[in-house]
Amino acid sequence: MIPRLGVNIDHVATIRQARKTVEPDPSAAALIAENAGADGITVHLREDRRHINDRDVKLLRKTIKSRLNLEMSINPLIVKIACQIKPDQATLVPEKRQEITTEGGLDIIAQEKKIKNIVNKLKLKGIWVSLFVEADRGQLKAAKRVNADAIELHTGTYANAKTETSINRQLDRLLKAAKLAKSLDLHVYAGHGLNYQNTAKLLKKIPEIEELNIGHSIVSRAVLNGMDEAVRTMKVLIQAI
Ligand code: PXP
Repeated sequence: MIPRLGVNIDHVATIRQARKTVEPDPSAAALIAENAGADGITVHLREDRRHINDRDVKLLRKTIKSRLNLEMSINPLIVKIACQIKPDQATLVPEKRQEITTEGGLDIIAQEKKIKNIVNKLKLKGIWVSLFVEADRGQLKAAKRVNADAIELHTGTYANAKTETSINRQLDRLLKAAKLAKSLDLHVYAGHGLNYQNTAKLLKKIPEIEELNIGHSIVSRAVLNGMDEAVRTMKVLIQAI
């Protein structure tokens, strides 16, 4: 089975928000990503709206043809928005105001009842629910208990590992977690920090992975690959005067 690619376009919105203007529009990026083969579009509607905002999510819901995966905290206002927008998939993530990006997996055990209620609420709206978790036995079992459909394994520690030994240790850890999740009848996804160097190795090691969510490395490559055309077009415009 070839894993699905969910393209996270948060950082297209980050560039827009650097000037609080209207470009680049994440919904335009989503359509290009879909035309290039993206199997889904992933966005994180953060409580502080630092990149993706409510208008983006509403527009994406109307315009994309693939699957909309909404990364979200368990904040009641965000849960309410998710129930109104009805993305195809909701991925519950922990969220701290000061963090640069999602720092770790969701602590399901610490708030099991609350998360179970939210999972059930989302599922009643027909939303497929995934939980972003560490490769931890206890958390995976808790994911099953709260009725999640899937788990997304946090690959950040693997992505940050520098030596061969630590990379292999992280891969073994993720493989063990993927096998356990599958035995619990949970679908297995993975994401965070994946790039053009570390993704193939992860997939070769862990065939259980059905979906990847990748953002920063794809948006970074898009910026660099587009730079040549962008400068040439501006030069043509200036020289034409
Ligand atoms: N999956 C989850 C749950 C995330 O929170 C993020 C970051 O928003 C990603 C995947 C994508 O991570 P990256 O931007 O490092 O590819």
